[in-house]
Amino acid sequence: MAKKILVTGGTGYIGSHTVVELQNSGYEVCIIDNLSNSTIQILDQIEKITSIRPDFSEFDICDKPAVDNFFKTNDDIEGVIHFAAFKAVGESTELPLKYYRNNLVSLMNLLEAMDEYQCSNLVFSSSCTVYGQPEKLPVSENAPVQKAISPYGNTKQISEEIIADVVYKDETKAISLRYFNPIGAHPSALIGELPIGIPNNLVPFITQTAIGKREQLKVFGDDYNTPDGSCIRDYIHVVDLAKAHVVAVERLLNKKTSDPFEVFNLGTGNGYSVLELVKTFEQVNKVKLNYTITDRRPGDVEQVWADTQKANNVLGWKAQLGAEEMLLSAWEWEKNLKQGIIKS
Ligand code: NAD
Ligand code: WQD
Repeated sequence: MAKKILVTGGTGYIGSHTVVELQNSGYEVCIIDNLSNSTIQILDQIEKITSIRPDFSEFDICDKPAVDNFFKTNDDIEGVIHFAAFKAVGESTELPLKYYRNNLVSLMNLLEAMDEYQCSNLVFSSSCTVYGQPEKLPVSENAPVQKAISPYGNTKQISEEIIADVVYKDETKAISLRYFNPIGAHPSALIGELPIGIPNNLVPFITQTAIGKREQLKVFGDDYNTPDGSCIRDYIHVVDLAKAHVVAVERLLNKKTSDPFEVFNLGTGNGYSVLELVKTFEQVNKVKLNYTITDRRPGDVEQVWADTQKANNVLGWKAQLGAEEMLLSAWEWEKNLKQGIIKS
């Protein structure tokens, strides 16, 4: 019988790609999402890709009775992948309590229900933001967590601390995956990133500018201490990232973890500057991008990329797709959005 995995935030960007990979690997998937940052239409899109419609429950994971009731009626869930969270760094500075409440209360509700209903395997969505500007590059999991620049980043740090405290006390085992910069879309171009309003992140801003939805991309600074002066990040294809979640959940289900709380970086190990990414986008998609250099964005780290050895050697996962595939797929998705593949 197929093992059942709960994916919170499963209609969101990374969650939807992970649902596809889980289904492709033979898992039965159920999703909880309150659609605060996604649309129900993603279920149709997932079904178009895999021919399987995942089970879907719409509610807020901050609603404790709803979470408890869900676990009570789904007592065969073997693992949980917890994506559901708010993720807009800038908004979190404006509305810190909105972020602390949503991201932390949802996690605590889940952990309590998992304990009560004996579901002991958790994969958690963390972020490279916990490293701030690392002293040593590439940054490994042993690098110190630095004081968070934003309340959003702090919710990830606190979440990891909460999980660590819980797993050493009860039966729960957890893997925290620290994503670097997820970009791109499924090769079918049926699912991808769906930013609401003006995108904060670079790649959706690039594709929206190329399609004519935004007038001009602003490159935030060319006076950093990097080869071309723009910031460097480790961009990772969302499909590679999704596959890492299947590997992580399998590691938990097969009781292969060496510690009740394991942490892995998920990146490619390669740094790309903003200007390199812009140029690669133009080359692979044969489009000209209207961009200008502006001031630095406050709070940006100068450069960060992942040491992926632990993920490669211990988790047994390695990113396969390069920047070209990331930017080609992001562009195909943007063009599909323009054709109205998702109704607004
Ligand atoms: P997303 O916003 O596309 O997906 C999150 C989903 O969770 C959305 O569908 C939203 O409706 C849902 N959700 C939020 N709060 C909820 C709640 N209280 N109850 C039920 N559903 C809720 O975001 P994403 O890019 O797919 O990110 C997924 C996870 O990965 C998040 O935890 C995010 O912090 C983390 N992360 C993302 C990035 C990135 O750049 N996208 C990088 C590092 C970490
Ligand atoms: C990438 C680079 C910008 C937009 C954020 C979060 C982080 C994680 C991933 C969740 C930077 C530059 C951007 C634009 C630009 N999310 N840029 N013009 O800041 O690395 O990370 O998303 O955990 O926590 O902070 O990603 O895509 O916003 O920026 O020049 O219009 O692109 O300055 O150098 P970032 P990003």
